[in-house]
Amino acid sequence: MEFFLDTGMVDEIRQALDWGILDGVTTNPSLIAKTGRPFLEVAKEILELVDGPVSLETVSRDAEGMIREGRMLAELGDNVVVKIPMIPEGMKAVQVLESEGIPTNVTLVFSPSQALIAAKAGASYVSPFIGRIDDVSSDGMKLIREVKQIFENYQIETQIIVASVRHPMHVVEAALIGADICTMPFEVMKKLFQHPLTEKGIELFLKDWERVPGRPF
Ligand code: G3P
Repeated sequence: MEFFLDTGMVDEIRQALDWGILDGVTTNPSLIAKTGRPFLEVAKEILELVDGPVSLETVSRDAEGMIREGRMLAELGDNVVVKIPMIPEGMKAVQVLESEGIPTNVTLVFSPSQALIAAKAGASYVSPFIGRIDDVSSDGMKLIREVKQIFENYQIETQIIVASVRHPMHVVEAALIGADICTMPFEVMKKLFQHPLTEKGIELFLKDWERVPGRPF
């Protein structure tokens, strides 16, 4: 499963790249707003840093506007993926952009039928929002299982990006289901490393090392 960061923060992206575990980045208008920086400046920096796909979101509500914005975003780099909301006008835009070789990521997906529609429209990626489903007392991961099953039934090539991730177990469950990609906040990525027994083990080894004679380091 590929790891994407769901962020507009360049420092977080640099850190994940240093760890060697970053495959791509997703952004949305809220994440860009959080940076407090001009959109184009942030987008260009991210696109230069990351080799993999970088999702940048359109904000128009009609197909014409989304296509115009999508083409503009695609000019920013070879690795741009245009994020399009899951509405009928959005699916018109997906068809046009994909036919021009511009990959799309259909966002704000909350049901298997929406994922199927996005795939039929030709989207390269679909982003079911699992945390927001959990937030309303429902089962976000069930949606991932269902979308995965439907895509397998028909050999659909649209990749599933598990989005709106809140904690490490979301990542683990996504991998167990076999989702293609999991996009996560930096805080969740950091937590994936952590285990109390690892810390405890290091402390014990270092303490015992002090008793070893002729230590070369
Ligand atoms: O970027 C899309 C999605 O991951 C947003 O997550 O935490 O705002 O529900 P969240």
